[in-house]
Amino acid sequence: MFTEGQYFAPVHAEADGTVSVHLGSGHPGFADPDYRARRDALATLASTWRPGDPLPEADYTDAEHEVWRVVSEALVAKHRARACREFLDGKEALNLPIDHVPQLSEVSGWLAPLTGFGYRPAAGLVPLREFYGALDERAFWSTQYVRHHSVPLYTPEPDVLHEVVGHGNTLADPRFTALYELAGQASRRVRTPAALEAVSRVFWFTLEFGVLWEDRELKAYGAGILSSPGEIEAFRGVTLKPLEIAAMATQAYDITDYQHVLYAAESFSQVEDVVGGFWAECTDDSIATMLADAGASYDPA
Ligand code: TRP
Ligand code: FE
Repeated sequence: MFTEGQYFAPVHAEADGTVSVHLGSGHPGFADPDYRARRDALATLASTWRPGDPLPEADYTDAEHEVWRVVSEALVAKHRARACREFLDGKEALNLPIDHVPQLSEVSGWLAPLTGFGYRPAAGLVPLREFYGALDERAFWSTQYVRHHSVPLYTPEPDVLHEVVGHGNTLADPRFTALYELAGQASRRVRTPAALEAVSRVFWFTLEFGVLWEDRELKAYGAGILSSPGEIEAFRGVTLKPLEIAAMATQAYDITDYQHVLYAAESFSQVEDVVGGFWAECTDDSIATMLADAGASYDPA
């Protein structure tokens, strides 16, 4: 997922109806005109989609299929060693292809009988309210482009590998999707930007970058770790903090680099109790009180 204020390659609608993507100079595809043209084409494709339309099919090239294959193959053994059990359950149930990029329409079709989740194509920036609100309808906004071939192990922005291999395998498991749905419900319940930001930060440190203890081994359950063959090897070395809502809701993070602080749950059940419980019950008022108690500045705007 990528959300407002986090994503650094904004898209612009042009007068002729096409969409262009503005890659920053630090982006791995910045100096590659073919890649930039590709990103524009896929953003334009997604922007034509309207609710109710069939999902747009991307005409992936052999080179893009090859990037998918390199990352997926690298992740086979790494998931087995470092992913939590519930993710591996989802992965077995979904059984994604290794050798080619599947279409979002296909993956949605495979998810439907498992959990009822499906994808929506995102051209670029999805505002927080829209991204999280969709989860309440079992819909997941997703990019369709493939990371630049020069950075298969870690890319600084979410791509289709992240959305499908990272999130998709979790969206195939009902214990995970119950959590996604609770985040969606929380986002619809809260009204203030500060409260929505708190809901979103908790999502960030859990469903995106969460780790947990399983049989005394630290495993990943966050999609952002599980889609990166590089970060999945690094997360055991970072600063670990206990799973605590107020701490996660006020912790700053950089989306374009390996995480330096992660929150470790004692078990998947603890994630369900603590994080699921927070999303199930939070309100503008409860979050304002929590942030005030934590000494965080609260913007009631
Ligand atoms: N690093 C992730 C990967 O290689 C992609 C990614 C970049 C990402 N920024 C993110 C994922 C923010 C989730 C949130 O797969
Ligand atoms: Fe994500």
